[in-house]
Amino acid sequence: PVELPKRVIEREPEPEVDDGKKKVSIFFGTQTGTAEGFAKAIAEEAKARYDKATFKVLDLDDYAADDDEYEEKFKKEKFALFFVATYGDGEPTDNAARFYKWFKEGSERGEWLQDLQYGVFGLGNRQYEHFNKVAKEVDDILTEQGAKRLVPVGLGDDDQCIEDDFTAWKEDLWPVLDQLLRDEDDTTVSTPYTAAVLEYRVVIHDPLDAAAEKWHNVNGHAIVDAQHPVRANVAVQKELHTPASDRSCTHLEFDISGTGVAYETGDHVGVYCENLSETVEETLRLLGLSPDTYFSVHTDSEDGKPIGSSLPPPFPPCTLRTAIARYADVLSSPKKSALLALAAHASDPSEADRLRHLASPAGKDEYAEWVIASQRSLLEVMAEFPSAKPPLGVFFAAVAPRLQPRYYSISSSPRMAPSRIHVTCALVRDKMPTGRIHKGVCSTWMKNSVPLEKSQDCSWAPIFVRQSNFKLPADNKVPVIMIGPGTGLAPFRGFLQERLALKEEGVELGPSVLFFGCRNRQMDYIYEDELNHFVNSGALSELIVAFSREGPSKEYVQHKMMEKASDIWSMISQGAYIYVCGDAKGMAKDVHRTLHTILQEQGSMNSSKAESMVKNLQMNGRYLRDVW
Ligand code: 2AM
Repeated sequence: PVELPKRVIEREPEPEVDDGKKKVSIFFGTQTGTAEGFAKAIAEEAKARYDKATFKVLDLDDYAADDDEYEEKFKKEKFALFFVATYGDGEPTDNAARFYKWFKEGSERGEWLQDLQYGVFGLGNRQYEHFNKVAKEVDDILTEQGAKRLVPVGLGDDDQCIEDDFTAWKEDLWPVLDQLLRDEDDTTVSTPYTAAVLEYRVVIHDPLDAAAEKWHNVNGHAIVDAQHPVRANVAVQKELHTPASDRSCTHLEFDISGTGVAYETGDHVGVYCENLSETVEETLRLLGLSPDTYFSVHTDSEDGKPIGSSLPPPFPPCTLRTAIARYADVLSSPKKSALLALAAHASDPSEADRLRHLASPAGKDEYAEWVIASQRSLLEVMAEFPSAKPPLGVFFAAVAPRLQPRYYSISSSPRMAPSRIHVTCALVRDKMPTGRIHKGVCSTWMKNSVPLEKSQDCSWAPIFVRQSNFKLPADNKVPVIMIGPGTGLAPFRGFLQERLALKEEGVELGPSVLFFGCRNRQMDYIYEDELNHFVNSGALSELIVAFSREGPSKEYVQHKMMEKASDIWSMISQGAYIYVCGDAKGMAKDVHRTLHTILQEQGSMNSSKAESMVKNLQMNGRYLRDVW
């Protein structure tokens, strides 16, 4: 069966040879590949600088099978660099979650890492409340446990230019590593390192074979995850906003019958969507290659030698049109390394110079302004440099990053919809500083998707389920407070379906309240009938809706929470669980502050007491957030 690329996992125990070289381990916790890319890039650069040391890039998850193995292996580490990203509500990436949990719980281990010298570079976004929380904590704990910090923790900010942050952090690191990894008598000045442009080996196949291009329903693996998704048809698709709304929100149902995929209420679904055909056509035009070229990419040379460890795993053979649609992220801003790859294939020397300048230290400010601040897409950049025509192997390896899966909070419960995964997805349409209208890749795909209801030739996507800890209390009698404006309603629709199913089975339910928010009852009050039904059937005790654009002033969920402060306080006193879902940058922060105020006022406590109560709720898993 054809499948999406899987990450090559090297679990072969390598023999511990003592060649007298210093060993540096470079760990990464990555979600979209940026941290992994930085880890690999620094490894390449370091290899070129220090021939008296060896550098190994390690996925935190693959590094150790369990906590004991982490402990055993970390004890032996002498030099380590960590590249760790922070997501959502200050969380680590999936592949760092196990390490992070184990590491945080390690206070009783004492100062056991005294032999370790380390550096941490974090990947985060300053717009979020918990900016680089994971990196900061890993850095703190390493120090607490006796390890020696080589450089201050790097706080990469994806809201600005994270590549520049990485470069600046490296500038701090090199002089320190020079001291540690070079012989005292070695006085050679290292020449500035320039990364070679990576490329896949490309094999062009007989176009007739393209007829065989297909995606099987069963992926042939025991597990279904990001590396092994399954094909799911779109069974139902409908618009949730009324025509009066100038925005759009799609309700989508993936059919998971027969796929082996199972989910729980509150889980997330990862969706590999496709680029719009207009995006694909524009990419084809700029590349100047035939859309029907049927090809495969390879990470080894013809004689079987590996080409480069930092290449993403190859995708299955397909036509160029398909490869662009499924695998190329062409709407994000290009990295500096992509500009260099374009420069290497620009036939016009002035274009090549300009591209190189933008990627150089001297062009730093221009890159920050012209590419990052104006959110210029790769396609827009390519259009400005029409002579730059990278070949296939370069385009997919070094110019266009892999299109990443998008995650959605599942808006159904398997008790109601065992063979369906429901998604509630707001359409992303933003005007960029260059005037380009950015169409969100996956939300646009969902809006345009054709359901099985309407056509046998329906839309489908490779999907997988990611478990979450956003779950209803195990005891159904525990009170539940849910706060979810806009599409933040999604998991609560699942919760309420679940409660309704329980109720119908005769299970006794505790009280529940839902704070929902939208602009206007006539426009974007999504799932209104269903919400009323949950109330009428007793699955939901109280529904409180804030309409932000009906009255003379904005009314948000947190204002409604203040009005209900005493009810909230009494529910919390009875052991309520509090759930917040939706926008992390604005709403979740404001709701958090409001919760704090409610505890302070209703519980007549000072601010720090309220703070510690909030912390306790969080620690005890009674205050859960699913935010983005
Ligand atoms: P607005 O668009 O009128 O500002 C769902 O998107 C709802 O959340 C909308 O009614 C939106 O209001 C509202 N919203 C926007 N910012 C918010 C915030 N910081 N806190 C709570 N609700 C917010």
